[in-house]
Amino acid sequence: MTSLRVMCVGLACVDIVSVCKNYPEEDSDQRVLDFYWQKGGNAANSSSVLSLLGAESEYLGSFANDNEMRFLHEDFSSMGVSTSHCRTFDSGFMTPTSIIIVNSQNGSRTILHASKNLPEVSLEDFKRINLSHYKWIHFEGRPSFNTPTHEIVRMLAHIDQHNNSRSESEQLQTSVELEKPARPELDQLLDKANYVFVSKEYSQNKGLTSKEEAVKAFIQKCRQGASVICAWGEDGAAAMDSQGQLVTSCCFPPDKLRDTLAAGDTFNAATIFALMEGKTLGEAITFGCKVAGAKCGIQGVRGLR
Ligand code: ADP
Ligand code: FRU
Repeated sequence: MTSLRVMCVGLACVDIVSVCKNYPEEDSDQRVLDFYWQKGGNAANSSSVLSLLGAESEYLGSFANDNEMRFLHEDFSSMGVSTSHCRTFDSGFMTPTSIIIVNSQNGSRTILHASKNLPEVSLEDFKRINLSHYKWIHFEGRPSFNTPTHEIVRMLAHIDQHNNSRSESEQLQTSVELEKPARPELDQLLDKANYVFVSKEYSQNKGLTSKEEAVKAFIQKCRQGASVICAWGEDGAAAMDSQGQLVTSCCFPPDKLRDTLAAGDTFNAATIFALMEGKTLGEAITFGCKVAGAKCGIQGVRGLR
């Protein structure tokens, strides 16, 4: 069997989740229905889903040496995700944290993210990895104050160099996610990977009003041979390849919407998994929507196994 080893590069954080009966009014006081800590961060979530689906999965990012790090380590390890190439920053650094309100009426998630001072993965860290051990590397394209996007550009260029001397079947596949709107520096990633995931928010910020419009617009900016993929919440997802072939998928709603936190990260992971298995673009986004829909019906992602 060919290796399904995949790495996700980006954020791991602690999600501190309160599940509320109703979305709170400002300056009000209510007792929550449930409260828990959960591992979060797009790359951390996607690497976990990839592992749950059966891939050999690795997360690459930074850790701060604090109690939250121990929580994250345990979670990664119980999900079977390797963190062997991560770097730990010893003192004075803080694990990024999100305070999250999940509305039990409709599963919506409201995120207040705090990222204070933890440096992100550098090209130097990345160069220590033996790329020939991987089939796919996915990057969360979200720059922080200390990591300009161009570090990811350099990592992707490093992979291109590695691929140049290899036959097509031996080449490492790459994907990148452009999620946060109003980050013009992310645009430079559009033509740097084989698969580009653009979010609804990112697309809407550019004046695009549907998933179809989004993929048609963004494929023009992707590199030759690349595909662009766009999830659009309850409207499912669309994708387009470099020949301009459009494929779409509806969404697959669960019986009851419980928790939409990390639906996008789950969609990305499941789509990548299907592509790694050799599925077509259309089959892959349909699988992505099915797994993301199932995720919306459960708390967290563990129940996807
Ligand atoms: P994000 O978590 O990044 O906001 P989206 O809202 O675009 O991501 O959702 C990603 C995928 O998750 C969608 O393509 C869809 O398949 C699934 N999804 C999201 N919201 C729902 C929902 N309310 N019901 C069913 N599936 C959903
Ligand atoms: C969900 C998520 C959360 C995290 C937040 C960071 O997509 O990764 O787990 O708190 O986004 O922006």
